[in-house]
Amino acid sequence: MNIVVLGAGAIGSLFGALLSKKNNVILIGRTSHVNAINKNGLSIDGKTQLNVNVSAVDSVNSMPFSVDLLIVIVKSYDTKSAIDQAKQIIHDRTVVLSLQNGLDNIKAIEHVVERRQIIAGVTTHGAFFSKPGCIKHTGVGKTVLGELDGESSERIKNIGNIFNLAEIETVVSKNIIKEIWIKAVINSCINPLTAFFGCRNGHLLENPILEKIVENVCEESTSVANAYGIKLSYQDMVNKTKEVIRETSENYSSMLQSVRKGKKTEIDSINGALVNIGRTYSIDVPLNEILVPLVKTFSEQ
Ligand SMILES: NC(=O)c1ccc[n+]([C@@H]2O[C@H](COP(=O)([O-])OP(=O)(O)OC[C@H]3O[C@@H](n4cnc5c(N)ncnc54)[C@H](OP(=O)(O)O)[C@@H]3O)[C@@H](O)[C@H]2O)c1
Repeated sequence: MNIVVLGAGAIGSLFGALLSKKNNVILIGRTSHVNAINKNGLSIDGKTQLNVNVSAVDSVNSMPFSVDLLIVIVKSYDTKSAIDQAKQIIHDRTVVLSLQNGLDNIKAIEHVVERRQIIAGVTTHGAFFSKPGCIKHTGVGKTVLGELDGESSERIKNIGNIFNLAEIETVVSKNIIKEIWIKAVINSCINPLTAFFGCRNGHLLENPILEKIVENVCEESTSVANAYGIKLSYQDMVNKTKEVIRETSENYSSMLQSVRKGKKTEIDSINGALVNIGRTYSIDVPLNEILVPLVKTFSEQ
């Protein structure tokens, strides 16, 4: 399969490296990373040890092949501009996969790509950008892919198989939108609190006041999901959130990492999106509402 990874950062480079063993892969990333890859190959260390010679470019010009699968894996605040730049390589039969976190990526991609061409996914793999050309695989996880309308199409099964053949453990879901919401609800509890308090994920359950705030944010975010038509039980969501916190207790969340680097965060696509959707359905979300500007005090004034 001819695959282009749009946004070769931490997770995009990891998936690109794994997929490149059995597919034609081109990574689109920033110049320093692209130059390092073209000079010394792409190195993955940590849970996966790999050095691959994969093609990498820093701008979307013409591709040497017709793109079958475009994996969009930029941070959610870059989705609109990235997909806009990539539109010249997207043809009628290109499938566009958003593997990102956040609730607004599909809408952003739909500005440029027809909905029938879009599929989505979530992954619990963890990866970290060590330096140009080098990625650390910090956690082995699972990946879920699905058609937006839930159909078990041949193309989604085929892409799932290609991921599994690349040793990216993947299942196909008949309700990928629900999977995206589950991840957003969990992230809405963990990411802003760890970013604001500058703590490891596990600290949220070590402090009873923070644990209570996690439960309250979870209740708000779950109510928004339910109002939107995604049926989730509060008890399930709070259990899942605490399970993720325990499993990742030593980790620093991606939002905290962004704050520490002085970079923009995905807060608008997670808690911000929940606030906007909550408003549409007259659901009160005071905690989500305050978490958005609190996180922005660090990197976006
Ligand atoms: N990392 C993880 O463990 C993980 C796990 C699960 C899900 N996710 C999700 O996956 C998505 C990507 O996360 P990440 O951690 O891999 O982010 P990342 O390391 O920041 O990677 C994104 C890369 O894309 C680059 N980029 C942005 N716009 C571009 C464009 N138009 N053309 C070329 N390159 C462009 C960024 O450059 P700049 O930095 O210069 O903007 C960055 O190098 C997020 O939605 C995240 O929540 C991440």
